[in-house]
Amino acid sequence: VVAVRHYHEKVIDHYERPRNVGSLPKSDPDVGTGLVGAPACGDVMKLQIRVDESTGKIVDVKFKTFGCGSAIASSSYMTERVRGLHLDEAVKIKNTEIAKELCLPPVKLHCSMLAEDAIMSAVNDYKRKRGGSGSAKQA
Ligand code: FES
Ligand code: FES
Repeated sequence: VVAVRHYHEKVIDHYERPRNVGSLPKSDPDVGTGLVGAPACGDVMKLQIRVDESTGKIVDVKFKTFGCGSAIASSSYMTERVRGLHLDEAVKIKNTEIAKELCLPPVKLHCSMLAEDAIMSAVNDYKRKRGGSGSAKQA
């Protein structure tokens, strides 16, 4: 079936060619940095967003993940998913969506959780820098 085949190629692609690997300047006021670790395994994910202040939308995303393949694929998927989104939409993305998209087995659920935590942390960092009303859902 064409749809299924395409789906699998898309998934494997995130493992083989992760998107948006890299860094943004941490001190830039338009950049929010999320740095999170997984207690279960010690893996670490850094996810950075650049936000257009006038629209509140994410215009650029980069990540660096020191972890397993599933964590790397989850970060890669997340960067593509949040680009162009408003901050309020970005923080609503759940790890279960990522896990489903990437066909992660139950033991790898925490890897996708890392991506959910990382985007939340990046958005909070940006809001903290901007000193806005940004009520942090999580520190
Ligand atoms: Fe960390 Fe899986 S336990 S890579
Ligand atoms: Fe720990 Fe994947 S992030 S095994």
